[in-house]
Order: sequence, then structure tokens, then C-alpha cells
Amino acid sequence: MDGMKTVRVEKGEGIAWVFLNRPEKRNAMSPTLHFEMDAALAQLETDPEVRCVVVTGAGESFSAGQDLKEFFRELDGKPAEAKRAAEAANRWRWDRLYNYDKPTIAMVNGFCVGGAFMQLIACDFAVAAEDAKFSLSEINWGIIPGGLVARVMTEALGYRDALDLCLTGRAFDGREAVRLRLVNEAVPKEALRERTTALAQLLMSKDPEAYRATKIAVRRVRAMSFEQAYDYLGAKMEELRQRTGGRAQREGIAQFVDQKTYKPIDGSFAHGQ
Ligand code: COA
Repeated sequence: MDGMKTVRVEKGEGIAWVFLNRPEKRNAMSPTLHFEMDAALAQLETDPEVRCVVVTGAGESFSAGQDLKEFFRELDGKPAEAKRAAEAANRWRWDRLYNYDKPTIAMVNGFCVGGAFMQLIACDFAVAAEDAKFSLSEINWGIIPGGLVARVMTEALGYRDALDLCLTGRAFDGREAVRLRLVNEAVPKEALRERTTALAQLLMSKDPEAYRATKIAVRRVRAMSFEQAYDYLGAKMEELRQRTGGRAQREGIAQFVDQKTYKPIDGSFAHGQ
């Protein structure tokens, strides 16, 4: 991904670490950053070396949200440019990440503000530093949580908490983000990369086709009736079987039933499970 000014990608052991890379601006999202993130994620989705994508920020910040100068003030009165930038912003932060073919993790290393909640919630998992600082600060600028932010907040949180955070703009840390279920877990900052790597390794150990079909299925059924979900999940199961020839299931069952070499759950209660 040569020539990118605002995005940096490091690849290793199947993981692509995608850094929003404007640390001097706390990774505020400029139009250029949106275009580059959109291109980078599209490229990594079909890169055979990459089996999991981690979205994070360079320096002290995950992202300080939309760039107040470059995304808002400088695009004011330029409807064509503003539209192009907004489309790219929504495409990578939501459409791409929400439907991404590979496992995705948001690694929240510092400030996570406003528009950055979209990529946070679109990723399959989110791991935060305990002292990360979150805020939906739009209300403080006299605007609303736009793009899809208000909508995805109600997707991820309960109604009262979504309203509280959107209406007050109050800041909260990684521990509270866990309590709100906005992130899966919070760890001391020094352990963030190690913990994220371990999670990525777990996700990469799953059959990639089954992983992809499962995450899409869980997301789609949320808006369906039980009848529709029965139908949809049956069709999805058949699609997966057609795509893979049922290989992973057949191998797993043979290892469990015949060879006794595979047991997905530890059968003892020794660890208080
Ligand atoms: N848009 C544009 N520039 C931003 C920015 C944003 N969202 N967030 C930070 N920056 C810039 C600052 O203007 C500053 O630029 P400068 O060095 O040219 O003066 C630089 O990033 C560092 O910011 P600073 O405020 O000095 O860092 P900090 O560590 O003390 O505070 C934040 C970090 C994120 C808490 C603070 O910058 C902030 O509140 N930013 C606004 C976040 C926001 O409300 N975003 C939502 C927009 S809807």
C-alpha cells in the first residue's frame, strides 16, 4: 500500500494491522484518510496473505472523529466534494467493515470520538485499553451523530445508554465501554496488542467460510421475523454447503467420532466452566 499518506498497514502472521495514521491530529478523519482507508480495506479483503484485519490508530489515539477542519469546514459549500468524501467515509466505516469477508477487530488504543464509533461498532470485535477515552461529542459542536452513528449506537447499546451518550457527549473509559457492551473487553494498555493478537489467532483458527457465513447470518437475522430467519438460515446453510462441499463439517465429525482427535469443548468441569 505504497504512497498512502494517512494510512499505514503492517502485515504479519496472517494479521493486517491497519493504522489510521495522522497521530499529530489524533487520527482525525480527513477526506484523504477516508479515501485511503476505503482503498486499503478493499485491497486487504482479497489479499491471500491476510486472514484477519485489525483497525487501530497510530500514536495516542484510535480516532478523534471527523476532521473538523478538513471534513467539515473546508467542504462547506462544496457539495460535490462533500458528497464524495461522505460516501467514502460511510463505505469503509460501515458497508465494507460490517460485511467484511474476514474477521475484523477494532483495537482502541486511546481517544475514540464521534464518527469513529462507526468503525468501532462495524468490526466483529472490539478490544480497548482500560484508559481509552470515548465520547460522542457531536452534541458539543451543535450537530447530531450523523453518517450512521446514531443508528449504530442503537444497534450496539440499550436505548437509555444510547440516548445518554448521544445527548450528553460525556466521556467514559474502556472499563465503562465494557459495561455498556460497546467493546468486548478492556485490558491494560501495555497488554493491548498481545491480547488483540491472541483474539486474532483464535478467529483465524476457525474455518474462514463458516466464520464469514456466521457473522453475516447473525447480523442479518436481527431485522427478521422468526419465520424469515428460519428460511434465511436454512438457505445460508445450504449456500455454505455448496461453497465448501461440507468439507469442514465432514472433517470435524470424522475427527470427533472416528479418530477421537478433536473435541471443541473441554468435557470436564474442573475449571468451573
Ligand atoms: N478535527 C480536526 N483536528 C483535530 C481533531 C478533529 N476532530 N481532533 C484533534 N485535532 C487536532 C487539534 O486541532 C490539534 O491540532 P494542532 O496541533 O494543529 O493544534 C491536534 O489534533 C492535537 O489535538 P489536541 O487537542 O492538542 O490533543 P489532546 O490530546 O489534548 O486532545 C482530543 C485530544 C481528541 C481530546 C481533542 O483534540 C478533541 O477534543 N478533539 C475534538 C474531537 C471531536 O469532538 N471530534 C468529533 C467531531 S464531530
